[in-house]
Amino acid sequence: MTIAIITGASAGLGEEFALRLRDYFPQVEQVWLIARRRERLEALAGKLKGVESVVLPLDLCDKGSFAVLAEKLAAEKPRVAVLINNAGCGYLGDVGQGDLARQTTMTDLNVTALTAVTHLTIPYMASGSRIINVSSIASFCANAHMTVYSSTKAYVSSFTRGLAFELKKKGIAVTAVCPGPMATEFLDVGNIKGNSKTFAILPYCDPKKVVAGTLAAAKAGRVFYTPTAFYKFYRTVAKLLPHAIVVHMAKC
Ligand SMILES: NC(=O)c1ccc[n+]([C@@H]2O[C@H](COP(=O)([O-])OP(=O)(O)OC[C@H]3O[C@@H](n4cnc5c(N)ncnc54)[C@H](OP(=O)(O)O)[C@@H]3O)[C@@H](O)[C@H]2O)c1
Repeated sequence: MTIAIITGASAGLGEEFALRLRDYFPQVEQVWLIARRRERLEALAGKLKGVESVVLPLDLCDKGSFAVLAEKLAAEKPRVAVLINNAGCGYLGDVGQGDLARQTTMTDLNVTALTAVTHLTIPYMASGSRIINVSSIASFCANAHMTVYSSTKAYVSSFTRGLAFELKKKGIAVTAVCPGPMATEFLDVGNIKGNSKTFAILPYCDPKKVVAGTLAAAKAGRVFYTPTAFYKFYRTVAKLLPHAIVVHMAKC
């Protein structure tokens, strides 16, 4: 069975990835949908036509979820054509203030879970398989007041660069997508909406266009994809200017 695995499939970008995946990867016969909210995953499964869906309601911040996934992979022995590491969260707030769990949830989900799911899945991949890691423009330079979030996304981008090199000889391509802000639940979950001047003034990316561009980039084997000319320009600026300067304009 040729499958795709999508984390964070119950909302936002992840749901859109599930709906558009087969436009670019028609060989996928079954999609494993991972997130915590079972009912949202089941509703999405009902919308997916021409492909089987497997709903895996897992909390990826619970390390026990890695064992559940490992056992499922060992039992089914699928060919994983596409892995989309999309689950992520970002909380506005300074380190040292507020709830510790908010800071560690970002490292648990955006870093540890992404690493674990990738590690467990690679043995089931073959030449032509694809890994998509959802990073962010936050990976380009540290974002004060979302310092942990931007640090986790710097990890995702760096992880992608190294992994792409490691897996090249196996014919497996790895792509990081670096979108700007998108109007998804992310903004409410992270207490960002109405509380960040930067998020209020930045241009927003369209999740549908981000997903289409990402799937095309992954199919083409590109290592990085940054949607929109505005954020491509920001990426170049953040590469050229010292980060001691960029950090002033990148604060949330
Ligand atoms: N929206 C933006 O402005 C923006 C910008 C750049 C990058 N991104 C990145 O884009 C990705 C998708 O975000 P989004 O905007 O689509 O946000 P979203 O609508 O909040 O979706 C996040 C997804 O992650 C899942 N998730 C959260 N915690 C989880 C956990 N502990 N275990 C398993 N799944 C979990 C959520 O499902 P459950 O709640 O059902 O578990 C949901 O499906 C993230 O990696 C985010 O960092 C977002």
